[in-house]
Amino acid sequence: MSIGIIGSGAIGAAFARVLARTGIEATISNSRGAESLSELVREVGPSIKAGSREEAARADIVFVAVNWTKLSAALTGLPEWSGRILIDANNPIEAPLFKPVDLKGQVSSELVADLVPGARVVKAFNHLRAEMLAADPRSGGGRRVLFYSGNDSAAKAEVAALIERIGFVGIDLGSLAVGGKLAQFPGGPLPNQNLIKLA
Ligand SMILES: NC(=O)c1ccc[n+]([C@@H]2O[C@H](COP(=O)([O-])OP(=O)(O)OC[C@H]3O[C@@H](n4cnc5c(N)ncnc54)[C@H](OP(=O)(O)O)[C@@H]3O)[C@@H](O)[C@H]2O)c1
Repeated sequence: MSIGIIGSGAIGAAFARVLARTGIEATISNSRGAESLSELVREVGPSIKAGSREEAARADIVFVAVNWTKLSAALTGLPEWSGRILIDANNPIEAPLFKPVDLKGQVSSELVADLVPGARVVKAFNHLRAEMLAADPRSGGGRRVLFYSGNDSAAKAEVAALIERIGFVGIDLGSLAVGGKLAQFPGGPLPNQNLIKLA
């Protein structure tokens, strides 16, 4: 099960750190090319290598964490998805203005899914701030909760297994329309809820 990461900013790097702690291999990418990532991958750990956006996008699971207005460019011209999984860690809001995007009644993950025909989209890793995501998930006598949602049960099961493997507790919120809305920032009740499930 190969993993690619598109976006090497706060959330992409946090996800890479979490994977690296468990020795899980992944290829991380950004808009500037692999050379710009040499320092990050050296610091994060040996299981993470830098690659191009296209290389990262060939993986079985592609984690995407890009500024909302840059998603379309970041997801253009990639190999056919053919059922591969895209983890949507994005929120429809952007620094420095933090002005909510008009989603025209859809949840943001549905708009992301429209950009990647053939991908099985699972919304996850978007409800916590990057520092909290990167922190040790074992906390307060339990494990930190991550939410996930999606319309494909098998894809969700794979993401759930990954969430468990990296030490978090996963909670299935249902479909993108239902779960995406609950976990979405702004608007949903779950963002920034640092929940710990006691053993
Ligand atoms: N920061 C948080 O705490 C947080 C929490 C939850 C969810 N999120 C969501 O996660 C997403 C990323 O946020 P962030 O804070 O990580 O942003 P960020 O620090 O600004 O990083 C954005 C990344 O996207 C990359 N990117 C932009 N255009 C690209 C393209 N065309 N191709 C490939 N990569 C491209 C950038 O690469 P270059 O620098 O090379 O352009 C950069 O690595 C956003 O949707 C945000 O709402 C953020």
